[in-house]
Amino acid sequence: MEQYAEPTQQEFEGWEEFYSQLVDEKLDFFQSEGRLFDIIFAQQFERGFLDLLCNLADMIRVLAETGMGQKKLRNLLPHKRVMLYFVQPSTRTFLSFQNACHILGLNVSEIRSTQTSSEVKGESPEDTIRTFASYVNLIISRHPEAGFAEKMAWVLNQTERPVPVINGGSGPDQHPTQAILDIYTLEREFRNVGGLDGKKIAMVGDLRRGRTVRSLSYLMKNYKDNTLYFVSPDVFKMKDDIKNFLNKYNIPFIETDDFESIMPEVDAIYMTRIQNEYSEGPSSEAETYPEFHFKTKHLSMIQPHCAILHPLPRRYEIDVVVDKDPRAAYWRQERCGMWIRAALIAHIFRVEEEIFREFS
Ligand code: CP
Repeated sequence: MEQYAEPTQQEFEGWEEFYSQLVDEKLDFFQSEGRLFDIIFAQQFERGFLDLLCNLADMIRVLAETGMGQKKLRNLLPHKRVMLYFVQPSTRTFLSFQNACHILGLNVSEIRSTQTSSEVKGESPEDTIRTFASYVNLIISRHPEAGFAEKMAWVLNQTERPVPVINGGSGPDQHPTQAILDIYTLEREFRNVGGLDGKKIAMVGDLRRGRTVRSLSYLMKNYKDNTLYFVSPDVFKMKDDIKNFLNKYNIPFIETDDFESIMPEVDAIYMTRIQNEYSEGPSSEAETYPEFHFKTKHLSMIQPHCAILHPLPRRYEIDVVVDKDPRAAYWRQERCGMWIRAALIAHIFRVEEEIFREFS
């Protein structure tokens, strides 16, 4: 598709000042009537809310097991419409949100490339999003630029039709709904071993540019006595902003490049791939860093309850033989994404009480 004009650059007075504030200082802006409105940062989630969402997701998945339950769910939100604006590639986030919407009866529209929207004619992203708000009740975005969802929510909240925005991944910055699905997965995997408090969790791979591990690290402020192990080559170490955040909340973390040495200690291993879509140069392209892969031989080195997670897609980080081991949680994890996203949408549209009532 021909690009007829470069995207129009629009000046929004006050945006740069707002964007430069600390996240903690701007959380209220994304709330409405004491509830979450836009879902932009993992820092927006508190323990009580995470526990509620996990309960709600459990209930939705139980209801969805029967025809009668599915019908009740589909009757919750048939009057609402959602826009999935996914202009950075995605399989799981897109499909799990789309199916979460279908479970709750919402109608879904989608744009998956700026090449098929009027952005090829030079329309700005801000006008594009404002146009979506004319038609739908919720916008879910996946975008290659850090801060994109935040800016769209900031722009819309100053219009006469502020519809909620959910950040489905914004560049190497944040992926807050991945973080809540990771929490939901860990919470389920740890149900028989005392829950999510007091656990040792290893994050492995490209920690510098992996938005999933960044967002999950933020959520650790909600849990007690956990220790994080950041396992990466030197070039992909976790950035200082996350380490400063963990220090602020007294969450211990250990950095190492010796993956095998920590395997017997941890309760969960969160694998990630090299995020070379964000490469600044060719140096990291060819290297696959096999010493940061989970291999079949490692199954005998980890604890019987150790959960192996991966946000997926994977390349070579986990041998496919590992898939058959009950500790491999990553296929369950991607399915958890659909249920917890359905729970989040139910909360945004205030129908969670109707779901809870089915179980009272
Ligand atoms: N985990 C995740 O965000 O996967 P997708 O890129 O396939 O959506």
